[in-house]
Amino acid sequence: MRNVCIAGNWKMNMIPSEGKAFAAQLIDAASKAAENETVVVAPPFITIPAVIEAVKGSPIKVAAQNMSDQASGAFTGEVSADMLLDAGVTYVILGHSERRALYGEDDAFINRKVRYALEKGLNVILCVGETLEERESGRLEQVLQTQVTEGLKDVSASQMADVIIAYEPVWAIGTGKTATADDANSAHSFIRGVVADILSEDVANNLIIQYGGSVKPNNVKSLMSMEHIDGALVGGASLTVEQFAPIVQFND
Ligand code: 13P
Repeated sequence: MRNVCIAGNWKMNMIPSEGKAFAAQLIDAASKAAENETVVVAPPFITIPAVIEAVKGSPIKVAAQNMSDQASGAFTGEVSADMLLDAGVTYVILGHSERRALYGEDDAFINRKVRYALEKGLNVILCVGETLEERESGRLEQVLQTQVTEGLKDVSASQMADVIIAYEPVWAIGTGKTATADDANSAHSFIRGVVADILSEDVANNLIIQYGGSVKPNNVKSLMSMEHIDGALVGGASLTVEQFAPIVQFND
């Protein structure tokens, strides 16, 4: 059985005091999660230290939402892998569609970050997903193939133990439109096939592939029941414990 990862991407929400209070309240649900499940929260950079403090000694892991591809130096506004590691961060979300669309991040830039994060020992959540226009014009597979292949360029099979792929169809993010469990499962199956082609069957079989896009307490179970869906990357519903705790405990 593959491992499972439920992650909350807080995006630009939660000031440090809110993040700290939230994290403390989530510990109970995370402690009751299944043995093979990892629970991750991704606060904004400034909120990370307060959350790390609050989750100390608990099973909750902390992710950053982005990271520089550079080690240090004159890069105003950027945050390095070493800074994240020193703060206690163990995961980093890279290639989120909001960063691709709003900040012009392309596959080559995302790949530099992926490789650098892995070199530094961070776990990577690499986000991929198509726009509505790409899906409707029949380019779903081509888009996923490119984003996965380019995003994982020069990543070794052994490094893949630290990689999660999040399939987030852009049209399902923050819209209340969820891909049907079957549609999501077939996209996940396609992604797994791409990984098998570029790395190996073994790597592909062990890879955690999360679904993201309007995951809520009332749809998480059906999504998680699908063969190729091994987790969720949750936006809006990760902002309240009332909604995120039942998602974390989808197995109950
Ligand atoms: P929503 O759950 O708000 O649709 O966001 C999904 C997402 O972008 C997580 O990274």
